Amino acid sequence: MRKITFWLVLSVLIFQAIAQENSDMDVFISNLMSEMTLQEKIGQLNQVAPHGWVVTGSSVNEDIEKKVIAGQVGGMLNSMNPDMTRKIQELAITKSPSKIPIIFGLDVIHGFKTIFPIPFALSCSWNLNRIEQSARIAATEASASGFCWTFSPMVDISRDPRWGRVAEGAGEDPWWGAKVAEAMVKGYQGNDLSDERTILACIKHFAIYGAAEAGRDYNTIDMSRLSMYQDYFPPYKAGVEAGAGSVMTSFNVVDRIPATGNRWLMTNVLRDQWGFEGFVVTDYRANNEMSVHGLGDLKTISALSLNAGVDMDMVGEGFLTTLESSVSEGTVKIEDIDKACRRILEAKYKLGLFNDPYKYIDSIRMQNEVFSDSHLKAAREIAQQTVVLLKNDKNILPLKKQGRIALIGPLADSKSDMLGSWAGAGSRENVSTLKHGLETVGGANVTVAFAKGAEPTDDPFLLAASQNPWQRRRDGQTEEVKPSADSLLAEALEICRDADVIIASVGELASWSGEAASRTDITIPQTQRRLMKALKETGKRVVLVISSGRPLDLTWENENFDAIVMAWQGGTQGGLALADVLFGDYNPSAKTTMTFPRSVGQIPIYYSQLNTGRPANPFNKFSSKYIDSPNEPLFPFGYGLSYTTFEYGNVSLSDSLVRGDVTLTASVNVTNTGERAGEEVVQLYLADPVARVSRPLKELKGFEKVLLEPGETKTVSFTINTNDLKYYDSELNYDWDAGEFVFYIGPNSSDGKEARVMWEK
Ligand code: NOJ
Repeated sequence: MRKITFWLVLSVLIFQAIAQENSDMDVFISNLMSEMTLQEKIGQLNQVAPHGWVVTGSSVNEDIEKKVIAGQVGGMLNSMNPDMTRKIQELAITKSPSKIPIIFGLDVIHGFKTIFPIPFALSCSWNLNRIEQSARIAATEASASGFCWTFSPMVDISRDPRWGRVAEGAGEDPWWGAKVAEAMVKGYQGNDLSDERTILACIKHFAIYGAAEAGRDYNTIDMSRLSMYQDYFPPYKAGVEAGAGSVMTSFNVVDRIPATGNRWLMTNVLRDQWGFEGFVVTDYRANNEMSVHGLGDLKTISALSLNAGVDMDMVGEGFLTTLESSVSEGTVKIEDIDKACRRILEAKYKLGLFNDPYKYIDSIRMQNEVFSDSHLKAAREIAQQTVVLLKNDKNILPLKKQGRIALIGPLADSKSDMLGSWAGAGSRENVSTLKHGLETVGGANVTVAFAKGAEPTDDPFLLAASQNPWQRRRDGQTEEVKPSADSLLAEALEICRDADVIIASVGELASWSGEAASRTDITIPQTQRRLMKALKETGKRVVLVISSGRPLDLTWENENFDAIVMAWQGGTQGGLALADVLFGDYNPSAKTTMTFPRSVGQIPIYYSQLNTGRPANPFNKFSSKYIDSPNEPLFPFGYGLSYTTFEYGNVSLSDSLVRGDVTLTASVNVTNTGERAGEEVVQLYLADPVARVSRPLKELKGFEKVLLEPGETKTVSFTINTNDLKYYDSELNYDWDAGEFVFYIGPNSSDGKEARVMWEK
């Protein structure tokens, strides 16, 4: 009893403290706004990207200093030079009319200087604490270097690996996407935004940006509201519920209205239904792009997006240049501009910018914390957990730490490709490539001989995409005279001659995924395939280590090689982490969070598809299948191997008949049947075979990552309640039906043991 009273009193005190803080903030902002002119308020809604800094969009802004002094800038992005940031901030707080500090943002996507594996790879770790930690470290480094706002996490669900931006997300599943969104927001923002080491998160891209038709970035989308609520909204909602301070609009249309001007999305869903209290920023010139979508001139569309509930205009200056006249023409209300301005000022207040506008520029912290030993250690440990072992026939892996390794391939020693796309402020500093990793971890008894073997591609389209100017500048690369394909191959084969094992480092360059990097063909290019064929023909053991920003079509590789390791793009410490896995210092535990198709023809492919009325049946021509390919993917969602093996017992339920709002437990015994300790991601799926609408074949509802010693058995238990049974019907009611439910527990979405329960209302 005494304990309960204590917690009650504590909660009341915390509540009172928050209420007090909020009311202090309200008074402060009201006073400030009472002195501001309409133009200054509109100035707060303007975010600029200065000329000469990093460019992440199609154009930048000019005359920044003049605009800052005139009070026409509320936010800025991409200032990579802390001295410049300080100078601009100083202008804002000394020379602008209301002396309001600027909020500085950057795409800190998977690390700031210490780069972690790409977000998609992070999601394959199934380790929420580690994912949160990566965001916390990113915040720590970014917040010392001038930034208090990141445009992350990207939480768009995608079921199409042609889309390059799958690299930035958490894969295909809404339940898992929601967990990752929450972890990332917590990582960036912590419990206290005014802490100098935390930064404002931004949930993006609201909404459904990952469903672009044909996987082509920025393309049109047409989707039912049921699918939005059921499959695409959960991660955005989870991010909002975790307290994300900002949300970014998406470039695409939703119900034929661009998201940026879509009031249903920005106000009804985001604010009214989900209770979002932060501010909404457009994506890069997404406001202006509404004109190209066909919604009218700049004045019309700027009014449309402000009225839809958008608060800040990124780069396009549509708000800055048109809102005042829209007010005088009566198409925009001053109260709505006030609301937007207030939300932006609230974020600045919560970040503590009014107390100390320079708090996020701290050269001492930069020196001590950026690339600190503990950050690099975490980056290595986290990267280990993202490597997915797809195939290991004949137990080729792990490798012994002795003998001669021929390391062949265009990605084996490329620092910028190890960093991946959107590598923030990441530079080549401290980047460990696979070559470096093998040499370092292998020790004295291992010799590593390296040859490039092949160019990444000779396809003219991919070659053009490889010329990422930002990447090249970061690398300081210059045009070199390239040796011929034959001489590259000959050199590689020469090295292989006395090798004990060959490691082929192949796949995608960093610039082949990420924004504006969609592919129609997701195989490894021909130049590299020719190399792989030649390596196979040596008759030696070959391990494929594949780097990429997306699941690839690996059908050919799977047919031809015994060992396949999915390295993704591992970040600053990627090479060391990969070597840890290849030598067995770390036993792989990652599982893919997107389905690997057999060919692009199967896309979109995802495990939680609906049944058709004609499920595939090899004996029935008129069933839902291909005549030239199995329906099944090459590797299903949730799949990944270990150097040990796990055996699953039968699933037992705490009851086979339950009623109403109770909690059911589903348990399974998992045994490590191999000879090494290893971690297994035990996954729980649910199917609802009879409902008011057609339901997915199964849906992920839980997981646990367990460490098992050789021979050890652990019971893994999941609790399930009626919330887990709920779904959206065609009227968007969110409820569950009485009836039979099937639980599957297993190592991935295709293999699992099942148990059934009757659940009555
Ligand atoms: C456009 C991208 O879509 C978005 O994700 C990013 O945050 C902005 N550019 C700013 O760089």
